[in-house]
Amino acid sequence: MYDVIEEFLQTNKDLMPVRYSYSDIRKMTKGFKDKLGEGGYGSVYKGKLRSGRFVAIKMLEKSKANGQDFVDEVSTIGRIHHVNVVQLVGFCVKGSKRALVYRFMPNGSLDKYLFSQEVSPLDCKRMCEISCGVARGIEYLHRGCNMQILHFDIKPHNILLDENFIPKVSDFGLARLSPLGNSIVSLTVARGTMGYIAPELVYKNIGAVSNKADVYSFGMLLMEMASRRKNLNAGADHTSQIYFPSWIYDQFKEGNEVEMGDATKDESKIRKKMIIVAFWCIQMNPNDRPTMSRVKKMLEGDVDSLQMPPKPFVCPQEKPIQPVNDEVEKSDSRYSTMASYHEDSEEISQIIQSS
Ligand SMILES: Nc1ncnc2c1ncn2[C@@H]1O[C@H](COP(=O)(O)OP(=O)(O)OP(=O)(O)O)[C@@H](O)[C@H]1O
Ligand SMILES: [Mg+2]
Repeated sequence: MYDVIEEFLQTNKDLMPVRYSYSDIRKMTKGFKDKLGEGGYGSVYKGKLRSGRFVAIKMLEKSKANGQDFVDEVSTIGRIHHVNVVQLVGFCVKGSKRALVYRFMPNGSLDKYLFSQEVSPLDCKRMCEISCGVARGIEYLHRGCNMQILHFDIKPHNILLDENFIPKVSDFGLARLSPLGNSIVSLTVARGTMGYIAPELVYKNIGAVSNKADVYSFGMLLMEMASRRKNLNAGADHTSQIYFPSWIYDQFKEGNEVEMGDATKDESKIRKKMIIVAFWCIQMNPNDRPTMSRVKKMLEGDVDSLQMPPKPFVCPQEKPIQPVNDEVEKSDSRYSTMASYHEDSEEISQIIQSS
C-alpha cells in the first residue's frame, strides 16, 4: 500500500500531498534517528521514502485541536508549486501527533552560509542570485497562487538550499497549523522572529498588517546576505556599528565606499544594490516599502537605476499613519533615480498638513 501511494504521488505531483500513517513516519525516519534541527514548532528529522528520495519530516508539537483544519490547510499548502518554495510531499495526522513531510534540501538553511567563520562557497554574485530567488518565492506566495499567503517568518533559517543552491522558502502556512512556540513572538495577529519582524506587528500605530510585513523581513534578510553579518551585532568594534543598517546608511549617504573584505568592483556594486533595495524594504511605514514584485525587479536591475530611500529608522511616531492598500502599487519611478526625491517629501508634508 505504502509503495502504491508513493508511486501515485510521484506520477501525480499536482495532487494533494500523501497522508502517511504514524508508523510510516517512524519507518521513514528509522525511529527518529537523524535529527536535522529544532525550531519553534518542534523537531525536524531526516527520512527516506521507499523510492530512495530523502525527505525532512517536521514533527509538530502541541498541535491545534481540530484535525480537519490541519488536513484542509495541508491540502492547500500541498497544491503550491514553485521552484523557490519548498515542496510539501506529505503529512501525518494521528490523534495529537502531526507531521509535515518536505523534500529534503541537501544544502540546509541559509543561516549556515551567512554567519559562519568558514570560507563560504557562495560568492557575492551567487548570494544576489539567491536573494532574487527568495524574492520570487515570496512574490509567488503573495500573488502568484490563487490565494494570498503571508509568511510572517522570513529569516535565513527558513530559506533552504537544494543541491544546486536554488533557494526554497519554507515554513509558510505553519502559523495556521500550529500554536506559537518559543522562538516566536506571541502576537494575536501574527508571528515572527526578533531581528526580522516588521514594526507594525509589534507597534499598533505604524500601520495595518499586510504583505508588506514580509517585505520588511526580506529586507532584513537581504541586508544580512549583502553584508554577511548579523544586522544587530553587540560585539562590533565601534558602537556606531552595532546596528549595521543604520551605520551603513550613513556611510552611503556620506558617499563613502564601504570596503568589505577583498571585494572586486563588480562585487561591491552588487552588494550596494542589495543594500539599497534592503533600505527600501525596511522602511518604517509599510506604504513606503515596495511590493515583492517591485523588489524582484530592483534586484534584477542595475544599481545605477536605484535611488537612495529616506533613512528607514525614524521613530514610529514621527511618521504619518496611512492606510495600507495592498493592491495599489505606487509608481515604479518612486524607487528609481528618475523620480524626484522631493515628490516623496511633498507627499508626506501634505499628509502631515491635512492630518
Ligand atoms: N526540507 C528540509 N531539508 C533539509 N533541512 C531542513 C528542512 N527543513 C528544515 N530543515 C533543517 O531543520 C532545522 C530546523 O527547522 P525548523 O523550521 O524547525 O526551525 P527554524 O527554521 O530554525 O525556526 P522556525 O521554527 O521559526 O521555522 C532548519 O534550520 C534546517 O536546517
Ligand atoms: Mg523553519
